[in-house]
Amino acid sequence: MKNDLLLRAARGEETEHAPVWVMRQAGRYLPEFRSVRATHEFFEICRTPDLATEITLQPIRRYTGLIDASIIFSDILVIPQAMGMEVLMNPGPHFPDPLNTPEDIAKLSKDVDVNQELGYVFKAITQTRLALDGEVPLIGFCGAPWTLFVYMVEGGGSKTLQKSKSWLLKWPEESKALLVRIADVCVEYLVGQVKAGAQLLQIFDSNAGELAPHHFAEFSVPTLQRISAGVRSKLAEENIPAVPMTLFAKGANHALGFLAEHSGYDVLGLDWCIEPSKARALVGDKVALQGNLDPNTLYGGKEAIEREVKRMCESFKVGGKTKGWIANLGHGITPGVDPEDLRWFFECMQKYSATASSK
Ligand code: CP3
Repeated sequence: MKNDLLLRAARGEETEHAPVWVMRQAGRYLPEFRSVRATHEFFEICRTPDLATEITLQPIRRYTGLIDASIIFSDILVIPQAMGMEVLMNPGPHFPDPLNTPEDIAKLSKDVDVNQELGYVFKAITQTRLALDGEVPLIGFCGAPWTLFVYMVEGGGSKTLQKSKSWLLKWPEESKALLVRIADVCVEYLVGQVKAGAQLLQIFDSNAGELAPHHFAEFSVPTLQRISAGVRSKLAEENIPAVPMTLFAKGANHALGFLAEHSGYDVLGLDWCIEPSKARALVGDKVALQGNLDPNTLYGGKEAIEREVKRMCESFKVGGKTKGWIANLGHGITPGVDPEDLRWFFECMQKYSATASSK
């Protein structure tokens, strides 16, 4: 590895500066992405290893020397597809035939063979690792069971999550059984990604914050733990070295202390609604942290970006040192960002997160 800052920070080590990447870093804010997208459907790109590799590399090429990780181009919704559901992207996700009642669970495939259904992601990962040639580490990912459950039940994005919450309240046992079924596919899928070459795994629980704390604890946390434990034990069984695992439970800052202690993840991702120093106080030195600039800061102009980055760095540093911190936004980058403003974010990050830099 020419640049292993990400892996060192994930292990909680001190780094010369904070490794930085951004969620959705290969996406619509990049003209080179839009140009590929003009002639290819979203899921067609995901399923074509040459295209997925090309797009994964786009931000790495554009920001050479400024960006410290790549993330494989794919989507969390490939798991519902692998379980037999149709998913369209027009322009947001749309499931023509969502799960309306527990009887619909019977429509899902019984034994999902991840090599057969998701082998295209494994191919893309292996191909991307080769193309990266050790430049930066490659992150693999999947959606958390609760977040995927919401899409499978609502049939797309939802503001209220009315259907999903009705499921939890009316059919708690059936909901839990479905969540476990999704989790078991996640485990196989993540293990396959490591075998294919992924060097760190991130689980996106983007809908975690929609649940009351006691419902998050009852419905999401057990499957998040099942995934971290399941991936670790399967890798150990096959004598494959463990990789660091990141949990991004957006909106679940109330649970940070518990998650640091009991979730089995090495890194916890933060959204922008918690002060970094407060998050560090809650988790102690049990885990590394990732985050957490408000993505809309990138619309504030260069001066504001610099000011906010400097502030974030001061809040994440412990005793003036950068240790166990992976810098990122608090959620995905949005399509209207000027790529040059993102470059400026990366430049400011290198400057202000350096351990040597005066605060
Ligand atoms: O981070 C990366 O660059 C890797 C690729 C990646 C995508 N989606 C590509 C994508 C990752 C890690 C995701 C995760 C994902 N997908 C999440 C979890 C993270 C989050 O944002 O909360 C969720 C909830 C999804 C589901 C999804 N996919 C939605 C809601 C949408 C539409 C809204 C949007 O932001 O565009 C997508 C589409 C999608 N996934 C695009 C990209 C680049 C844009 C699609 C297009 O090109 O038309």
